[in-house]
Amino acid sequence: MNGNPGFAQLPNRFSTAPLSGDGEASPGGGPCCKGSSEAEIRELARLPLDELKALARRTADAVHGNKVLLRGLIEVTNHCAMDCLYCGIRRSNPKAVRYRLSHEELAETIRAGRKAGFMTFVLQGGEDPALSGDGLLRLTETARAAAGPEAAITLSFGIKSRRQYEELKAAGADRYLMRFETAEAELHRYLRNGLTLDQRLKALEDIRAAGLQLGSGFMTGLPGETEDTLIKNIMLAQKLHMEMGGVGPFIPHPETPLRDAPGGDLERAVRATALLRLALPLCHIPATTAAGTIHPEGREQMLEAGANVLMPNITPVAHKKHYLLYPGKICIDESGFQCVGCLSVRVMGRGLKLSWDRGDALPIESLGRTTL
Ligand code: 5AD
Ligand code: FES
Repeated sequence: MNGNPGFAQLPNRFSTAPLSGDGEASPGGGPCCKGSSEAEIRELARLPLDELKALARRTADAVHGNKVLLRGLIEVTNHCAMDCLYCGIRRSNPKAVRYRLSHEELAETIRAGRKAGFMTFVLQGGEDPALSGDGLLRLTETARAAAGPEAAITLSFGIKSRRQYEELKAAGADRYLMRFETAEAELHRYLRNGLTLDQRLKALEDIRAAGLQLGSGFMTGLPGETEDTLIKNIMLAQKLHMEMGGVGPFIPHPETPLRDAPGGDLERAVRATALLRLALPLCHIPATTAAGTIHPEGREQMLEAGANVLMPNITPVAHKKHYLLYPGKICIDESGFQCVGCLSVRVMGRGLKLSWDRGDALPIESLGRTTL
């Protein structure tokens, strides 16, 4: 394969031929490995849920095996200067109890995580004014020192400048996550209180240009979506060549303007996960906490639809209950380390197994090594 042509240009090898064997890569036919085209995604979107999930899971098995990568999620700060209409930590929610982890708390959490076996730490937070300027850089240095050179550090703190992303990389960050939230430009501007989709996309470009592995994603079931929104979201995800991609159902928060909107249902979120897998076979896709929040088996359903990542929340328990983007969030009384035990039982029931690998972005060349 010459260079990195991107999924859109690659020949499509989608096939509904059944996989032989137990989900290992099968020579001579099987699910798509190159990423489905828009026409194919539209067709796949019409399949009955079980069929769609099975196709997506087979693609995940062929590319990622039966491993489910673990990432330790640390919610660093719930201060936020933004005012997104859907979000419980928006600046206009006076009821949010605000906190920010100290450097020592962050370092201690990461050290405990390393001891438990985590090789990836995802530091997430609102757009905290205290972390503009050098604040986030210092925090990243602290995280890197605590994690040691081998573990991966992912950041998720919203829009920064290209220069800042470069500095964060130099300070020890490997990856950056920022969902585009919705590919509908008008809806995006409304829900994000004036911020445009183009601003978000420009920042995603900057992240990539800074040499960070790129994660993005979207919510499903936002008020104002149309039938076509899901397809637009999937096609934008594919265009971005996301290396990590999160999908979660929208859940209305009582202290936001969207309090009375209906939330997203599980089926739509699971369908989105499956289509994302078929559009981006290499992508690391989490089974999200939001899915686990709206249904007791929401995360399992996403794994069955091709997700290959779980992110136990290892934020110190004292703070966990205050990082409420949406109500009813699961696992706030458990430590993330207890969750690992719980999750290992849950994935085993699906023929999957937890993995402590770093789980870096897979280079497109690795498709050539996967025979389908
Ligand atoms: N319901 C579901 N997901 C939400 N997020 C923010 N608010 C909500 C909500 N009310 C998601 C956004 C954000 C991610 C960290 O959490 O997609 O990017
Ligand atoms: Fe947290 Fe089950 S995953 S308690």
